[in-house]
Amino acid sequence: PIILSQTKFTHRDGVKYPIEERALQFGDGVYEVIRIYNGQYYLLKEHVDRLFRSAEAIKIQLSSSKEEITDQLLELLKRNNIDGDAKVYLQVSRGSAPRDHIFPQDVSPNIYAYAQELPRNLSKLENGVHVITQRDVRWENCYIKSLNLLPNVLAKQEASEKGCFEAILHKDGLVTECSSSNVYLVKDGKIYTHPATRNILHGCVRLRVEQFAEDLNIPFIEEAFTLDDIAEADELFLSSSTSEIMPIINVNGKQVSNGKPQIITRKLQDAYEKDAN
Ligand code: PDD
Repeated sequence: PIILSQTKFTHRDGVKYPIEERALQFGDGVYEVIRIYNGQYYLLKEHVDRLFRSAEAIKIQLSSSKEEITDQLLELLKRNNIDGDAKVYLQVSRGSAPRDHIFPQDVSPNIYAYAQELPRNLSKLENGVHVITQRDVRWENCYIKSLNLLPNVLAKQEASEKGCFEAILHKDGLVTECSSSNVYLVKDGKIYTHPATRNILHGCVRLRVEQFAEDLNIPFIEEAFTLDDIAEADELFLSSSTSEIMPIINVNGKQVSNGKPQIITRKLQDAYEKDAN
């Protein structure tokens, strides 16, 4: 496999990172995960825009422009002959320097990106998934796609140990998002989801869900729902670049509605299908 390392393309095995790399020692960086269908990026501009927003929020100044990074990401797919379904992981760190919490002077950010095949999870998209709920113990700047993912990792591990796909996170009973996806509740024909504040990642797929809802004349209400609301929900679903629009059919061992994916989730999945393929 060929990876993008800084501004060059090189074999993955040849890349070495210094031990004093700020991504490794401090999680001092930001990242993106971008979906590819049939060899074509989906929502590339949205991801590149968010990368720059995240970098700016933590005062990392990228050495390349949005256009340059976009071109390099397109080239990455070509160099790897990606023509099917895949994802690209892209990471930017503040750089490598002797360990010190304070920003190092005169270092440039380290960037790398690689592509990996990623088949669509068709059976889960069809049948839906089970999730658990957990307290959201993350920080107050979750809109930054930061490399610091320990609370997310621990939450998803707990879900996995319970045979579940995701963990719905809540602050004092108010649902924010999942460990690596956004989450939505449907009640009486309306979609509810946490507003795009600092408390959630502003998902690229979330932007599309909002658009699909508008196109379908389904009210999209940016209002946090509660854990109690879940018991009364007609539908529940999550979204991310890797999970797409995924029905949730069971929360903490209790069925959502009749335990089957429902109509509004299906309509959004159909809209996604048309948009992405
Ligand atoms: N996660 N919320 C969180 C906390 C996320 O980590 C993600 C994405 C999302 C959905 O964002 P988007 O629609 O732009 O993919 C929401 C990626 C897939 C990951 O970390 O692997």
